[in-house]
Amino acid sequence: MEDFKVQSMLLTGGDRGIGLGLALKEMSHRKSKGCTLVVLQLDVTDPESIKAAAQKVEEKVGGSGLNLLINNAAIACNTTLETEDAQNMAAVYATNTIGPLLMCQAALNMLTRCLALRYGLCGILSVSLHPGGVKTDLGVEQEELSLASSAKGMVEVLSRLSARDNGTFLDWKGQAVPW
Ligand SMILES: NC(=O)c1ccc[n+]([C@@H]2O[C@H](COP(=O)([O-])OP(=O)(O)OC[C@H]3O[C@@H](n4cnc5c(N)ncnc54)[C@H](OP(=O)(O)O)[C@@H]3O)[C@@H](O)[C@H]2O)c1
Repeated sequence: MEDFKVQSMLLTGGDRGIGLGLALKEMSHRKSKGCTLVVLQLDVTDPESIKAAAQKVEEKVGGSGLNLLINNAAIACNTTLETEDAQNMAAVYATNTIGPLLMCQAALNMLTRCLALRYGLCGILSVSLHPGGVKTDLGVEQEELSLASSAKGMVEVLSRLSARDNGTFLDWKGQAVPW
């Protein structure tokens, strides 16, 4: 998988924060080669919404398939031990843990045929990326890394990924983060 190239990417939570930064950076990265941005409505906690979005993706990418999924959508609750409750915890789990699982399952069906033919299903790279501490609605107040630096770093890390990175946890500079 040394020559992995992003051809079609599905990014969740792209309307603000780090997702928006990543989408804009990726667009400018590919400007010279030409690229199309398609905005879809998607709730990662709702299987019907995922199904509808997957159908739209398939209509767009057709036979050339999808070859990168970025599970970026997430929520955080500003709670303490005293104020946390079951409803909050369930919402965080549904969005941040079950959501990416449902998205991965949907994306498996949209894998690019070339990738599947060339590498087989074992050719899927799965990497966790830490964006750094960025001041967004989710990030805490004191975070100092700019959105632009985080997005630029992550796009560069993505473009350098190879088979040996599979299963790793990397930060926005490409450095390994202990699990
Ligand atoms: N900021 C940091 O310092 C930091 C540090 C470590 C990790 N991260 C990770 O980076 C990622 C992005 O965080 P962020 O700081 O950019 O957060 P953010 O500004 O709060 O943005 C969160 C994004 O997730 C979307 N989202 C939330 N629930 C969703 C759902 N059910 N379905 C679809 N989309 C949903 C939001 O969409 P709406 O606009 O529709 O709500 C929004 O686009 C997260 O995975 C977070 O854990 C961030």
